[in-house]
Amino acid sequence: MTRFLCALGLWGGIGSLSLVPAEPAGAQTNQAPLTLSVAGPARPISTDLFGIFFEDLNWAADGGLYAELIQNRSFEYSTAERMEWNNFTAWELVQRGGGKGSVDIETAVPVHPNNPHYLVLETRDIGAGVGVINSGFDGIAVQAGEEFDFSLFGRQLFTGNHWGSDPVLKSPAKLSARLETTNHEVLAEAVVEISGREWQRATARLTATTNAADARFILLSQTKGGVGLDEISLFPHATFKERPNGLRADLAQAIADLHPRFIRFPGGCLTHGSGLGNIYHWKNTIGPIEQRRGQANLWGYHQSMGLGFYEYFQYCEDIGAKPLPVVAAGVCCQNADHQGGTGQRGLPLEAMPAYIQDVLDLIEYANGPTNSTWGAKRAAAGHPEPFHLQYLGVGNEDAQTETFRERFKLMYAAIKAQHPEITVIGTVGPFPAGEDYEAGWKFANEQHLEMVDEHGYESPQWYWDHLKRWDSYDRTHAQVYLGEYAAHDTGRVNTLRSALAEAAYLTALERNGDLVRLASYAPLLCRQNHSQWRPDMIYFDNQKLLKTANYYAQQMFMQNSGDQVWALTVPDPKQYLAAACVGDSRTGDIIVKVVNAGTNAAALQLDLAAVGKPVGEAIITTLCADLGAHNTFEHPDIVSPRVATAPAAELRHYTAPAASLTVLRFKTR
Ligand code: AHR
Repeated sequence: MTRFLCALGLWGGIGSLSLVPAEPAGAQTNQAPLTLSVAGPARPISTDLFGIFFEDLNWAADGGLYAELIQNRSFEYSTAERMEWNNFTAWELVQRGGGKGSVDIETAVPVHPNNPHYLVLETRDIGAGVGVINSGFDGIAVQAGEEFDFSLFGRQLFTGNHWGSDPVLKSPAKLSARLETTNHEVLAEAVVEISGREWQRATARLTATTNAADARFILLSQTKGGVGLDEISLFPHATFKERPNGLRADLAQAIADLHPRFIRFPGGCLTHGSGLGNIYHWKNTIGPIEQRRGQANLWGYHQSMGLGFYEYFQYCEDIGAKPLPVVAAGVCCQNADHQGGTGQRGLPLEAMPAYIQDVLDLIEYANGPTNSTWGAKRAAAGHPEPFHLQYLGVGNEDAQTETFRERFKLMYAAIKAQHPEITVIGTVGPFPAGEDYEAGWKFANEQHLEMVDEHGYESPQWYWDHLKRWDSYDRTHAQVYLGEYAAHDTGRVNTLRSALAEAAYLTALERNGDLVRLASYAPLLCRQNHSQWRPDMIYFDNQKLLKTANYYAQQMFMQNSGDQVWALTVPDPKQYLAAACVGDSRTGDIIVKVVNAGTNAAALQLDLAAVGKPVGEAIITTLCADLGAHNTFEHPDIVSPRVATAPAAELRHYTAPAASLTVLRFKTR
């Protein structure tokens, strides 16, 4: 019914948008049209305003954006990460049709010291197969005809023929890699061979014959004897842009479809970690995957680091977003007191030079020439061109203690001394007001920081109450990155109400786009049934994505951003009405965004005469439903944008439906 009301408000008016159609009960329009006057001069605003923030939270990386299908591929899960976990989690021994064997975890001769555990599979009787089965991340979804890239590291330990001796290995070990249904129906199969005592990588391509929503991966030995196995990996061949070690295509595309101008990564709290030993170190995340050092995730699971800094940079480039890595400010998270967490602690001061050098090396890794130490590593990974790093976050929501300040100052001085071209973004605590916020801003002003990162998760009403927040900020001080925000509605559901409150706030950001240079909703991703934080922008399971109302509101702003803003006066903001008018100087387009979170449609008169003369057809994109409406996996389109066109001249009068966000895009050329 709500969508019907939205349709009446919009489509009923197309071709004659100057009048509101007869309103059904409950959707009355204000009596006299409200005039939205737009006035010059145009003021330049940030062209990077709307980006995204990716954090490995809610299984956003392993089991999420990172396309690896095997869970615990390198046998590094541990009880320290989760009480019920161990090195064998997600794996099981299989002995079929008289097959006999055993599995063990060893560390004596690892593939690489950063990746210490590996599996030893001993096959005594082959029978119908001895091996291991992996449950994937809640199973593995397979489509008929889909191709998979399988790989593992293996070494022969002993043969069945030379049991217990130190044999000359005469014949290779053969292993069959399969995808099977839970009823053992084979969906795809390939055989690889391992020969010799040295670790070697074996690869194969599997092609699925049938669809299966809940497949399993199985590795079965076809030869007697013992093998060491590690880094057992299965990727869909069709990763995003078919990159090896790549990203899940549908998720990566959904993010790309937002058109974000930047990506903040690898996290917020994840970055500064639970205890000093849990700080995220970017150097552990580059190079061959078998050499990366996984570690416990502050959010209570394992990060393989398969999605590492190279992949983050590459993804940014692939979708035209600027990279915005965040590094810990030499302190760990003040709030984390689990998994070895201690609350805020500072790295010993004598450790700071090495830590700071790591950060300088990161800049070199991103931007340095190929003959520099770290630029050469980037080139070796396949990217000789620089990644054009411009922004670097130092710290995340850190408590503004002397411990923090001392370390931040050291880092800031060193980075600016060597890289004045990098915009270093400081932090002003977790909340949009209060002790850390005040102290953080004071410190930022004393240090003359160029930008600080503000955070805030508040009720929808809070956002409506703070639309003027930025208007009074001192323009001579640091600029603002609104690094994390989301409107938390009752029950933490992604309602249209929350999306509209955020949209209203985004109009305030556009109006203040000279000061607020960057903004990103948080968190971005959540795997169904593995949530540590709600609400999020996109939910997913192995087969489907759920784009929330908040996703669509973000997308409408990102796809319709500008580089200049005009003053737009809304008569009475208390009516849950907000609007902004930006211009795209490259195309000459004028873009008006109107948020109406009221329960009545709002008849508006748009006066654009002072800023341009719209011509031809305008594009009207509307997000409209009940305020409490939200998308679900079963009904993913309850709140989704509708696009229409109308002659620009007729949009001088426009009726914003109740509970709606509208983007009106006018051409002037
Ligand atoms: O976005 C979720 C968390 O919220 C981030 O990790 C942290 O920075 C904030 O407290």
